[in-house]
Amino acid sequence: MMYEHLLVETKGQVAIVTINNPKTLNALNSATLTELNACLSDIEQSKDIRVTIVTGSGAKAFVAGADISEMVNATPAEGRAMSLLAKETFSRLETMPQVTIAAVNGFALGGGCELSMACDIRIASEKAVFGQPECGLGILPGFGGTQRLARLIGKGRAKELIFTCDRIDAQEAYRIGLVNKVVPAEELMDACMAMAEKIQGNGSYAIALAKASIETGTDTDLANGLAVEATNFGLSFATHDKKEGMTAFLEKRKAVFVGE
Ligand code: CAA
Repeated sequence: MMYEHLLVETKGQVAIVTINNPKTLNALNSATLTELNACLSDIEQSKDIRVTIVTGSGAKAFVAGADISEMVNATPAEGRAMSLLAKETFSRLETMPQVTIAAVNGFALGGGCELSMACDIRIASEKAVFGQPECGLGILPGFGGTQRLARLIGKGRAKELIFTCDRIDAQEAYRIGLVNKVVPAEELMDACMAMAEKIQGNGSYAIALAKASIETGTDTDLANGLAVEATNFGLSFATHDKKEGMTAFLEKRKAVFVGE
């Protein structure tokens, strides 16, 4: 499918989705969010894709935020609708069975930081800059920032970043647990592909169940989270991949997984 605001490419079992609004440092307007939602919906139904990498076009920005020129005259109802569209779109990254990696190649501010946080894993170029500048615009983070940032780095640090609007570099983002890894800018895509390859070597059905268990568990209490894990653990025993993975171990050979 062709998009106006996205570039989509597949490399083997990896889909690379690039936000492509170069005139606004890849700011997310409603049209871009709508396309991203449709694109992720397609990927989520594809059996051929195992990992989705989300990145921004150009050398400067991942995503510089929601589109301020679209929001400047928006009404409260329009603001809410934009937030709900982003909620649906970004939640897809967490609920889709495929693993999602944000390749953060530059500015990840506001909605950009929020987009990266909805991905399972964040790998940052050493040029990446993170921040939630919304309170400096008289609004608050509206694409999940007040929720996901606190869950990722803790309430105290999330409040500091949101209230001060401070921008932090990739090393600081790594120090506080906002990103998984920092790599030189020119190695960013290779690092993401290397992680995707490792992931692809494992059972995709098991990974999808593990992802769903982690997502459910972080939104509920420990007892219910453990109950979900037990159910999904049991479910994995019904798969070809479980039999193959364990048999291969005992036969001292590499497992051949089929994702079922
Ligand atoms: N929305 C719309 N346009 C944007 C934009 C955004 N979020 N970010 C950058 N642009 C545009 C600029 O207006 C500029 O356009 P013109 O060339 O027409 O003037 C172009 O992109 C290049 O930007 P700059 O000239 O500002 O580039 P810079 O190198 O001087 O600064 C920057 C880069 C620090 C990222 C700066 O552009 C910036 O601060 N951008 C806004 C960041 C921001 O506040 N993001 C949060 C938005 S609100 C939000 O995201 C709400 C939410 O929770 C969903």
